[in-house]
Amino acid sequence: MSETIRVLVVDDEEPFRRLLKKELTRKGFVVETAADGRAALGLLREQVFNVILLDIVMPGVDGIGIMKRLKNDPASPVIVVLTGRATVETAVEAMKNGAYDYLSKPYKLDELVIIVNRAYEFGRLSVKNRLLQQELVRKESPVEFVCTSSKMKAVLSLIRKTAPTDSPVLIQGESGTGKELVANTIWHFSGRSSSPLIALNCASLSENLIESELFGHEKGSFTSAYQAKNGIVEVADKGTLFLDEIGETPLGLQAKLLRFLDSGEFRRVGSNRNLTVDVRVIAATNKDLVERVKEGSFREDLYYRLNVINIAIPPLRERKDDIPVLASHFVLKYAARLSKPIEGCTPAALDMLSAYDWPGNVRELENVVERAVILCDSDNIGPQDLAIPVMTSLSARADQPSLDEMEKDYILRVLREAKGNQSRASQILGIDRKTLYLKLKRYGIS
Ligand SMILES: Nc1ncnc2c1ncn2[C@@H]1O[C@H](COP(=O)(O)OP(=O)(O)OP(=O)(O)O)[C@@H](O)[C@H]1O
Ligand SMILES: [Mg+2]
Repeated sequence: MSETIRVLVVDDEEPFRRLLKKELTRKGFVVETAADGRAALGLLREQVFNVILLDIVMPGVDGIGIMKRLKNDPASPVIVVLTGRATVETAVEAMKNGAYDYLSKPYKLDELVIIVNRAYEFGRLSVKNRLLQQELVRKESPVEFVCTSSKMKAVLSLIRKTAPTDSPVLIQGESGTGKELVANTIWHFSGRSSSPLIALNCASLSENLIESELFGHEKGSFTSAYQAKNGIVEVADKGTLFLDEIGETPLGLQAKLLRFLDSGEFRRVGSNRNLTVDVRVIAATNKDLVERVKEGSFREDLYYRLNVINIAIPPLRERKDDIPVLASHFVLKYAARLSKPIEGCTPAALDMLSAYDWPGNVRELENVVERAVILCDSDNIGPQDLAIPVMTSLSARADQPSLDEMEKDYILRVLREAKGNQSRASQILGIDRKTLYLKLKRYGIS
């Protein structure tokens, strides 16, 4: 190991902490330990760590609590979650909160060392060159745009037609409908696919930070700018820039963005020299931009400039024929990733997936399938593996009796069977007489 890798072990079990420290130190890591979340946060403020091995279930501030605090910290160590067998679901939750990987106890030492090294490598890449790494990820993962509905086939044909041009594209769709995937696909089919596709989330940073991320800054232009830095647009020269959540762009920056789109010209923060680059812009939003223009939070001229090609992705509930193909695509993806021999979904499971409204769209479907693949013990995913609300549409709800009504009916039936004998009825119902009495009063049964 050429560089020292600093590891923080957070676990409330003392023997476990001691063991990990001993084993990892022997392998050349520098290890600190913390017995609970508070102590961990204290250490994180004082020292630099590359990797945290984090127990999820702890008294006080638990693992998820720590992850939530670290989530938006770009200098956060890479998190590997330690979990008992019983908490696979918690591990899934942890991955969603930004954990890099998880390790279930009991673990093998070899496996532990591999994971810590991999996590370190991951962190090093993302800190050292976030932009280029993003590009790498995109190049490695082939674009798989799955669809069968006529609505999405129309979207796909629009993508193919417009990809080779250099026009700006505006992608609109609810959260989780696949806007980023569409941006990727456009880039993939464009003449610029040998140059990077670089993404900037316009909602993630303050106005000053986005401006300096986007256009770069000169040394000393603001307090933390200790060296000159290229902006994203310079890195993306000859390539494609993906402006995600464009609707959240602060107004001040919108003017500069418009000038850039019109002329390819920009200035670094703290400089008065004009620079020019050749960048294609793809923007995405889940907001109604026309509405934003009306309320004055989005510039009308910028809207028209971006909206040269408009791709509207319909929500999943409006193209339900895509559900089975998407589900099977995700089943295969996660079955392969988790090395489980799962082939697909049972017809009952597919019915359930198709009946649901998917407010979180394709992302929600993907999450549900991922969980199902983890939970599934057979070769097909069944309804019992799916964690989705069974009844969703309002009409279904109106036809269905409420829980209270069902309970009242049931109590009445049992009472009739028991010929009005309350102690007999409470026996059959499995509740004590007092509870039965209270329920009868509540439902007005005499
Ligand atoms: N047609 C599709 N085929 C295959 N995978 C899809 C499709 N649509 C969406 N996905 C997958 O669903 C997930 C969510 O998609 P994506 O991140 O592109 O959505 P988004 O619209 O950008 O969401 P948000 O508004 O929350 O940023 C991704 O993992 C993506 O790969
Ligand atoms: Mg997105």
